[in-house]
Amino acid sequence: MLEKNLIGGNWVGGAQALEIRNPSDLSDLIATYGLAGTGEVEAAFAAARKAQPAWGRATLEQRSLVLEAIARGIFDNKDKLAQILAREGGKTVPDALGEVMRAGHIARFFAGEALRLPGEKLGSVRPNVDVEITRDPVGVVGLITPWNFPVATPMWKIAPALAFGNGVVWKPSEKTPGISVAIAEIVAASGIPAGVFNLLIGAGPDVGAAVIAQADAISFTGSSTTGRRIAVACAERLIRCQMEMGGKNPLVVLDDADLDLAADIAVNGAFFQQGQRCTASSRLIVTSGIHDAFVKACADRIARLRVGHALKAETQIGPVIDDTQFRKNLGYIDIAKSENARLATGGEALELDTKGYYLAPTLFADTTNAMRINREEVFGPVATVIRVADYEEALAVANDTDYGLSAGICTTSMKHARHFQRNVEAGMTMLNLPTAGVDYHTPFGGRKASSYGPREQGRYAVEFYTQIKTSYLLA
Ligand code: UN1
Repeated sequence: MLEKNLIGGNWVGGAQALEIRNPSDLSDLIATYGLAGTGEVEAAFAAARKAQPAWGRATLEQRSLVLEAIARGIFDNKDKLAQILAREGGKTVPDALGEVMRAGHIARFFAGEALRLPGEKLGSVRPNVDVEITRDPVGVVGLITPWNFPVATPMWKIAPALAFGNGVVWKPSEKTPGISVAIAEIVAASGIPAGVFNLLIGAGPDVGAAVIAQADAISFTGSSTTGRRIAVACAERLIRCQMEMGGKNPLVVLDDADLDLAADIAVNGAFFQQGQRCTASSRLIVTSGIHDAFVKACADRIARLRVGHALKAETQIGPVIDDTQFRKNLGYIDIAKSENARLATGGEALELDTKGYYLAPTLFADTTNAMRINREEVFGPVATVIRVADYEEALAVANDTDYGLSAGICTTSMKHARHFQRNVEAGMTMLNLPTAGVDYHTPFGGRKASSYGPREQGRYAVEFYTQIKTSYLLA
């Protein structure tokens, strides 16, 4: 059993064994980990509380150099990390490499931000008084991250947390421990003082809950159901929280769109990375003039996608992460059929050379926005087409959802593009681009049930990872 929890600079084991298998080949047992329990959570917070004050007082340059070393560690090990991620998480190697590079760029970006810690000086309404507005670290933050982007998502929390002087207790999804350990090894080797950064491989209900009970702030990415529960727990403790949750992202395709471009965008946004992205284009909202040609163009492309073992060079779509997701996806395919959605392509599990969680990318046409398949997040390679009469109906359908993460439109009309950008209820909008796949230096987040709390990434991350102090000085 591997001893892979990082507490106070030491690698320690845990009582309960967790076997991790390759979702592309279930006969490939990758490793067995010793899961952390609540005792390890106590120890991690004790270590972080001891180490954080000095880290919070470290010079900006000391913190910047640590971030730079993390970035270098990621870039230097990019191929090894991509292999681990592809084997454990089922991402194709190019996708895995893309995610690893993105994480490296995020760390590099925050090496710069660490030096640019913002503040403000204001005049006072009183004579001879000055006012200074400065930012302090929040303390020890708990970071709870998912399996679908197990490198980039943690890094866009870890990097700003460390850059602005916080201690970190990181609980990644226990579905992807190998890549989490590999990232933690890079952080541990960056010159960071022991105890500032801690990793716990543990299960959500007990370890996650114990982290929430002790942290000074929680940043979480995962489902809306879990996020809501965590937000309530944080409110009870009066600690700040930042939640990035689900999506049911619309991609509107208007009659005047470039058909080939629109089909490429839809297929990329809906099916790449097996649709396991909170930003996936799961509702394709299409006006009637282009509808039939669009459905055909998408179905043709989807049927040509090569589903297979994530480590094989020819594979475009890997397996879904595990049995739970596999069954959930098949369950939603049954739900859509029972709602009389028309199966345009896919709709079944695939048996390939190796036994894995393979699903045919699935497109349903003739759906209505009221169907469950269009209300609930599937988080798999399943998308739907909703036919609408015109742009106005398309916008209304796009906004008729509990979620509001990312929303796209394919059109050559400036008028509709600008109107959509202004009126769609989403945190991110895309013109002639997939709803998924974002830059690493810009704010990321949504509205409604998709996000709660301040934005992540870019310069905006400072809001969550620092607290403001207003100082009045008479001199
Ligand atoms: C992207 O679409 O580039 O869980 C990023 C997710 C998001 C990240 C998406 N947190 O899918």
